[in-house]
Amino acid sequence: MLNHNKIEALEQFPTPFYFYDINLLRDTLDELKKQSDRFGFTVHYAIKANANHRILNEIASLGFGADCVSGNEVKLAIECGFNPQKIVFAGVGKTNTEIEFSLDKNIFCFHCESVQELEVINQLAKQRLIIAKVALRLNPDVKANTHAHITTGLTENKFGLSIEEVLEAKRILPDLENIALIGLHFHIGSQITNLEVFKELSLKANQMETELFPDSKFTYINLGGGLGIDYANPQRNPIPDFKGYLSTFKDNLNNTPERNVHFELGRSIVGQCGSLVTKVTFIKGPSTHQFAIVDAGMNDLIRPALYDASHRIINLTSNGEISKYDVVGPVCESADCFAKSIELPHVQRGDLLAILSSGAYGEVMSSRYNMREITGVVYSDEINTEK
Ligand code: LLP
Repeated sequence: MLNHNKIEALEQFPTPFYFYDINLLRDTLDELKKQSDRFGFTVHYAIKANANHRILNEIASLGFGADCVSGNEVKLAIECGFNPQKIVFAGVGKTNTEIEFSLDKNIFCFHCESVQELEVINQLAKQRLIIAKVALRLNPDVKANTHAHITTGLTENKFGLSIEEVLEAKRILPDLENIALIGLHFHIGSQITNLEVFKELSLKANQMETELFPDSKFTYINLGGGLGIDYANPQRNPIPDFKGYLSTFKDNLNNTPERNVHFELGRSIVGQCGSLVTKVTFIKGPSTHQFAIVDAGMNDLIRPALYDASHRIINLTSNGEISKYDVVGPVCESADCFAKSIELPHVQRGDLLAILSSGAYGEVMSSRYNMREITGVVYSDEINTEK
């Protein structure tokens, strides 16, 4: 993770930029691999969290699968080295073009979210004389206790099939000859830090499977992603508790030796390895309410503006006296604020600040709003930190 030793090397790059700590990414992946192998579980990386090629190459090289939500993500996953037979494709609004592309690439499984989608996949697979492997995404109505915008497993959310729709799917499935129903898929939300929620998901998955598919011989179950990271203390907890997360499922999910348990994690894999590094342009305001205006904006990292997300910010170039600042960007919206009234060592024009834990849903959600430059990227192994 970023620290004061790396400053000289970093100062040569134009700001703002995402800094990716490749060693931390590798350590995180090693830990996840160790824990998932130990439980015999399969992990797909949720590409939506960060689609940076270098990061995808690193993840693919360790043999993880990919979880995609668009045809372009499927395409990118294959280009970056993910095995199509380890790619799953979810989403409520897959277009014919996206389904056709994925069928032609022979991906592992479609996570199907509506009865109409089942019919369309069947029809497109039939035209190709192939059988498409499909899992039904069930809506378990489990409360994730996270931000409303990133809760997905409640009846009021658009995701997955309701019980009524599952019954309809079961009724028509025998006629859909080009579909092989291999299992079930669940995903209840993101940034979940209370493992009890995953216990509840396991128990609900057991119950739904027994009630809705009592005679099933499914070979696949996917419990989604959602494991949260420590935004408050990233330096203390750089690697999430994969062991605790996976063992919650091991202990609570009814499973059979024939059935493979899969996950699709995004944030917990890439969140802590990325920081947004930005330079202070101006300091303004009265001494009682100082604004540190930085050269990164909500277009570079939208999480604080969109979800009220709080990211830890450090001043890389000052050890001065502590004062309070609002850290804000240059974009013409009041929402363009990274933090309000936070304590930082004395900040002045030209200082470098790092907004930590920005590896997930950072670069990938950036835009050119206000016609700003595309956010730069620097990898830890391309800078020389030796003194
Ligand atoms: N699987 C499905 C079906 C998903 O919808 C998601 C995330 C994941 C897996 C990966 O979840 P993760 O392990 O990353 O929590 N932009 C928001 C987060 C949106 C999450 C969308 N779905 C944020 O910045 O917090």
